[in-house]
Formats: sequence, structure tokens, C-alpha cells
Amino acid sequence: MIERVGVIGCGLMGSGIAQISAAAGFDTVVREVDDDRLAHGLSSIARFLDKGVERGKLNEAERDAIVGRIRGTTALEDLSDVDVVIEAVVEDINVKKELFQALDEVLPVEVIRCSNTSSLSVTELAASSAHPQRFIGLHFFNPVPLMEVVEVIPALTTAPEITSRVVELAKLLGKTPVVASDRPGFIVNRLLVPFLLDAVRALEDGTGTKEDIDAGMKLGCGHPMGPFELLDFVGLDTTFYVANIMYDEFREPRFAPPPLLKRMVAAGRLGRKAGRGFYDYE
Ligand code: 3HC
Repeated sequence: MIERVGVIGCGLMGSGIAQISAAAGFDTVVREVDDDRLAHGLSSIARFLDKGVERGKLNEAERDAIVGRIRGTTALEDLSDVDVVIEAVVEDINVKKELFQALDEVLPVEVIRCSNTSSLSVTELAASSAHPQRFIGLHFFNPVPLMEVVEVIPALTTAPEITSRVVELAKLLGKTPVVASDRPGFIVNRLLVPFLLDAVRALEDGTGTKEDIDAGMKLGCGHPMGPFELLDFVGLDTTFYVANIMYDEFREPRFAPPPLLKRMVAAGRLGRKAGRGFYDYE
């Protein structure tokens, strides 16, 4: 039975995962590399919950109970008593591999090891762990507390029992799990990334302005954000990075990042987090 959840990384994704874990009633330990990053991540959880109280989504006692179930740490050893660990650190295969090797030193064998990778091979990550049969992908969407789906991605080595347990865990976390095979982009990014790249191509070839393309997709297809709003929201660098990984593996032109995207990234126009992407946020 899963009672304690460890989350590694308290950035955008890790903080959201720690929050929903605590909200689901799990004792949650979240680890960051230093005190500043940890404080930043924990304060973003507090801000989200405060806004939830303002919006009447939860009351103050519920908010305090969620915060009370989250313990922040900078020591990997503090995860030694968790039942499942969810890694949400930087999307760099070497950083993730080193982390899972270090975790093998502190985690009991039976702990389920999950990675929130959006683009790397789950099987390759699993191979870096001493327990690849207990390793699985668990890919959340941004903003984690609001997006309802989570992808469950078994590695070639994952034991079927671990997949079933992680599907159940996803439901306990309040999400709808979808099981995807370990191929670049899994289900959602495989379809979403070519769509976003096509929007950039449509802008490049003069099909419409970014405002009209966004309005067309929002009002014509019921998307909550248009492709350029979504690119700014996800991060142009993240989209560029994921697209390159998909292109490298599939070698299909639809996954190739268009020149404008590459130049926006080179110019530092990375989206909301940079204050400017396709739109200006300053
Ligand atoms: N606490 C509790 N609930 C909150 C909240 C908070 N702090 N903030 C917002 N909410 C609730 C609102 O109350 C509202 O709920 P309601 O419909 O029941 O009233 C709902 O969340 C929507 O909130 P808002 O009305 O304030 O905001 P929007 O309507 O503008 O929606 C959004 C914001 C959910 C981000 C929406 O724009 C959206 O769904 N955008 C698309 C996001 C998306 O596609 N994400 C996936 C990106 S891809 C990815 O992550 C994969 C990676 O690998 C690249």
C-alpha cells in the first residue's frame, strides 16, 4: 500500500506533483538541491492553495492540512521511508540517470521509481536503475493541479504489477491515467508538438496572424489556449527541445522545429517565463 510519496525537484512540475500528492492525503517529502529553490517551490504551492481558498475551491483548514503533509528537504536520504518516488528534475538524461543511481543507495528495493520525463526514453532511464522492473514513466501536465490526465509509460523492463499499481496511484492522485508506450512524445506530445510546430509554420507562411490563428483554434475547436498562447505557456525552449528529440528518433519532417521557433529560442523569447515569447508579458 502506498502511504508516503517522495518527489524529487520542486520546480514547476515537482511542486505541482507534491501539492496533489499531499492533497490526496499522502505524506509527501519533496527534495530540492538547495534551500532557495526549495523555498521558492514551497511558496508557489502555498500561493496556488491560497488562490484556491480565494476561489472557494477549498477552505483554510484543508489548505493547512495539505501544507502540513508536505515536508521539504535538500537531503536525498530523507526519502528513505517513501513507498514511491516521483522524479521531476531537469530534462537531462545524464542528470536523471545519476539521480536514479544515487537513489539506489538510499531507497529500499521495493520502492516504485517514477520519472516525470516528457521526452526521454523511459527504458533507457530504467536501465540506469538497479531495479528496472520497478521503474516507470509518470508524465504530468502543466499546471499539474488543474490538468486531469497523466500518462503512465511502462519501460520494456517494467513488471506488469508495477504498471497496475501506478495506474491506481494516478487515480488516487485525482488524475485520469492513460497508458502510453515508450516512444518519443508518448501520446499527448506526439500529437501536440506537431500541431504547435504547424502553427509556427502557418505563421511563417502568412496563413494568418498569431492572434487570428489563436482565435481560430480557440473559438473554432474549443481549445482553452491558442497554439501561440500554449507555446508561450509551455516554453518555446521546451517545445524546441522535445521536437528535436522526436525528430532525431522518427526522422519525420513534421517533428522538425521550424526556423522561426529556433530563432525565437536563440533570441531568448522563451515565453511567459522570460516575459516575452510570441506575446509580450511585461
Ligand atoms: N486553485 C484551485 N483551482 C484553481 C486555481 C487554484 N489556484 N486556479 C485556477 N483554478 C481552477 C479555476 O477555479 C477554474 O475552475 P472552474 O472551471 O471549476 O471554475 C479552472 O481552474 C480554470 O481556471 P481559470 O479560469 O482561472 O483559468 P483558465 O480558464 O484561463 O484556465 C488553464 C487556465 C487551466 C491553464 C487553461 O488555460 C488550460 O487548460 N490551458 C491549456 C494548458 C495545457 O494544454 N497544458 C498542457 C501543456 S503540455 C505539457 O504540460 C506537457 C509537457 O511535456 C510539454
